[in-house]
Amino acid sequence: MLQLIHLSDLHVGPNKRNKNNLRLRMLVARICQQFAGPDAPAILISGDLTNNGTAAELRQAVKILGRFKERGFRLLICPGNHDVGPMGNTFHRSAQVNFQQLVVGELLGEQRARTATNRMHEFYPRVEMVRGVACIGLDTANREDHLASGRVGERQLASLRTALAGIAADVPIVVYMHHHMFQWVHSMRLWDSEALSAVLGGRANLLCFGHKHQSRVWGPGSKRSRETGIDLIVSSGQSTAPKRRSRPPKFPHVRLLTVQKSGVPSYKDLCL
Ligand SMILES: [Fe+2]
Ligand SMILES: [Fe+2]
Repeated sequence: MLQLIHLSDLHVGPNKRNKNNLRLRMLVARICQQFAGPDAPAILISGDLTNNGTAAELRQAVKILGRFKERGFRLLICPGNHDVGPMGNTFHRSAQVNFQQLVVGELLGEQRARTATNRMHEFYPRVEMVRGVACIGLDTANREDHLASGRVGERQLASLRTALAGIAADVPIVVYMHHHMFQWVHSMRLWDSEALSAVLGGRANLLCFGHKHQSRVWGPGSKRSRETGIDLIVSSGQSTAPKRRSRPPKFPHVRLLTVQKSGVPSYKDLCL
C-alpha cells in the first residue's frame, strides 16, 4: 500500500497573501509532526512551487521542502508553469534550468541534473517504484506555448508509452503533472490532454494535478473517470491558500491518497 500527501501550487516568492511563505512553513511543520515515521506517506507536489522560477525563489522552496527530506519523507515533484517563467506566463529556459538543477538535482537527489544545463527531457517522465506502486511524473511546463498553457509533448508521450509497456499489469500506477486535464481555456489548457489520455489507455489508477487552484475529485462512475478509464482523478487547489475567514488558518487543499495493490484508490481531505 502507498499513501501520498498531495500538495500543489505552493507559489513560494513575493506574495502579499503569504508573507515569508509562512503558510508553507506551517504546513510542512504540521505534516512532519503528524506523519513522520517509518510508514510516512510520500509527498507529491504537482508543480508551481514558486511564483516566477527565479533561482532565489527555487532555493527558498528547496530549503523549506528540504525539511521533508530531513524527516525521511519520499518526495515526488513535477514543475508547473510558474516554475519556468515570470508569473507563469512567460517561458524562460534559464528558469527551467534552475528548476532542473535545484529541484530535480538538489531536492530530489538526481546527481546528473545538478550540472546538466537543459536536459529536463532526461528526467521526465520520472518513473519510480514506491512501495509497489509505479509513480510517473510528467513535465507539462516544457513548452513555449501560449501564456499559462502547457503540453506533454511528443517526446515525453513516446517515453511514457515505453514506460507503461514495461510495467507489469498488476502494478498500480499513479500519474502526476501540473496542468489540469479538463481545463479548456486557451491560456490555461493542456493542449495534448486527449493524446495523453490515449497513451495512458486507462492504465493509470490515480491521476493528480493542480494549476487551476480548484479542489475537485472525480471518482469511479463519474463522467471523467469513465472517459479516461482512470479510477480516481484529483485536482488540488492551492495548498498554501487559507480558508477564508478561518482563524487560525486552515489548509483545505491537502489530501491523503491511498493506493492499494488492487481496488480503487481512496482519498481523505486533510485540514491541517
Ligand atoms: Fe498555480
Ligand atoms: Fe499553474
